[in-house]
Order: sequence, then structure tokens, then C-alpha cells
Amino acid sequence: MDRPKVYVTRQIPEEGLALLRRVAEVEVNPVDAPVSRNELLKIVADCEGVIGLLTERIDAEFFDAAPKLKGYANYAVGFDNIDVPEATRRSMPVSNTPDVLTNATAECAWALLFAVARQVIPADRLMRSGEWPGWGPLQFIGGDVSGKTLGIVGAGRIGTAMARMSRGFNMPVLYTSSSNRRNEVLESELNARLVSFEELLEASDYISLHTPLNPGTKHLFGADAFVRMKPTACIINTGRGPVIDEQALLHALKTGEIAGAGLDVYENEPALTPGLAELENVVLLPHIGSGTASARADMAVLAARNLIAMLEGRKPETCLNPEIYD
Ligand code: GLV
Ligand code: GLV
Repeated sequence: MDRPKVYVTRQIPEEGLALLRRVAEVEVNPVDAPVSRNELLKIVADCEGVIGLLTERIDAEFFDAAPKLKGYANYAVGFDNIDVPEATRRSMPVSNTPDVLTNATAECAWALLFAVARQVIPADRLMRSGEWPGWGPLQFIGGDVSGKTLGIVGAGRIGTAMARMSRGFNMPVLYTSSSNRRNEVLESELNARLVSFEELLEASDYISLHTPLNPGTKHLFGADAFVRMKPTACIINTGRGPVIDEQALLHALKTGEIAGAGLDVYENEPALTPGLAELENVVLLPHIGSGTASARADMAVLAARNLIAMLEGRKPETCLNPEIYD
């Protein structure tokens, strides 16, 4: 029997590709850049499986272009790039990579939080400039972290991990939940409180975003939200960029409505809203939340296992539309 053809839209860690090569003819995009839409639609014409990134739109047009497709595996936990209802209508399985990147992403949120709180980036820049005059009592005064209130917007896996990591800093934890469901782990381990979005905005010193992007969370943080935040508060985003209205954020940072921001994701990646890069109270990372060696390797293995299951007609471990197997 012919081995199925599989396309991987970008080089991913070898651990996953090796698994795939045992069962499929694997073609990997040889260029370290996103594949163009036209090329993608051409290549998938004879593919039975595809592993893709958050830069690929997986929609009706994609599925129409891939008549032999048996499944699509996202190399990401976020899946706002996939039209899941459309996949389900076609009984086409789609999957993502949750869990394996939870700690890596939460740790990245902490890296941003500390970098913003303690002005790590401008301080580093001064050292490199060779112009540090020596120790001074008023240089790079930062904000405290210990004892400050941490607000988690979207207490799913990553939000919960971020909150748990706050234990050493004795931070009161507030959280919101779109389903308004209590998070038993956070309540029992951390005395965390489920609060309204307004209360979280008004009471938090650090607000960390972990909510998925969907029509209900797009621009959740706009002018109204920033006005409600404390002028000493900082916002951290390792989720999805469009949850923040970047123009409103720029305004809030410039006018001192809030104190700082640590961003790993952007509204129009890879573009940055003009003006943000000129601000000293912002830390900007290039979407590296899951970027540890083990998380990225584990994502590759999970995506490969998911795709292999789909090729073999089995339900993948982390399926986004498991109901198609009922
Ligand atoms: C990355 O952004 C992911 O969703 O895994
Ligand atoms: C997904 O958003 C997660 O928290 O794992």
C-alpha cells in the first residue's frame, strides 16, 4: 500500500518528524518562513495529513483544496486559526497541542512580569552602553512583586500554572472565567477568588492574559479596561495578541493609565503598533511562550501522534472536535 503523504508547513523538532516518517511520506517546508497561501493550497492537493502553525488559516478553502485529507494537526495549543465548526461539518478531525507547553508558557509570563516590574531591559541596555556611572540609590526603581495581587484572565491550564507559580511570592490571586466556573485547584491551593472582570481590573497589580481568542475576547482589553486598572498595574500577555486593543494599550501606557506591559503576542503579528517600541515601560518578546527545548519537542511528538491517529482512523489524543467520532 502507498504510504500517505503528509505536509509539515514549517521545520519542527526532529522528534516529531521521525515518528511521522515511520508511517508516511513526509514533506517539510524547506524554507524557515511561513508557506504562502497559494503554495499551501497547491501542496495539500494530494496530502492525507497536514501539520501546520498558527500562521495558517485552516478553513473551508483549505479543506476544499485538500480532497484526500484525513486530518489536520495544529502545532500550537491556540486554535483560533482553525475553523473548527467547518472541520466538524466535514467530519474532519483537527487537533492542537495542549498540556505539553503549559509550564513553558506560564514561565514565559513570569519572565515578562519580572522584566517589566524591575526594568530589566532598560537596565541591561545601560550596562551594555558602557555608560553606567556606578551604583545609585535612585536608579531603575521597580515595583514589588511579593504580596501584590495577581489577576488571571482565563484560568485554564496555563493561567492555573501561572497562578500556582505565584505561591512563593504570597500573592493574593483573583481570576475570571468565561464560563463562570470555579477553578477548584486555584481555590483550594491558593485561596484564589473568582471575581467579575471589573473587580479583577480594579484590584490587580499584575494582570496576566490566558484566555483563548474568540469573538467574545477580541479587544477585551480596550480603553475602558485600561481606565479601570490601577495606574501602578502592569499587563502581561502570552495568550493571543488581539485580546488587547494595541492602540488603546499604547495610549494607556503613554498617559500613565497603567504602569507597564509585557507582551509575547501582538494584534497583527509580526507587525507592531507604531509607538510601542519607543516606550521604556514595555517588554516585547517575539511570541516565544512555548519556546523551551522540551516543550517544542513534546509539541512535535504530540502533533505527530495526533496526525498518525487521524491517518489511521483513530481519535487523536487531543482532538478539538471529538464528537465526530461519536
Ligand atoms: C502558541 O501560540 C500556541 O498557541 O501554542
Ligand atoms: C489553553 O489555553 C491552555 O490554558 O492550555
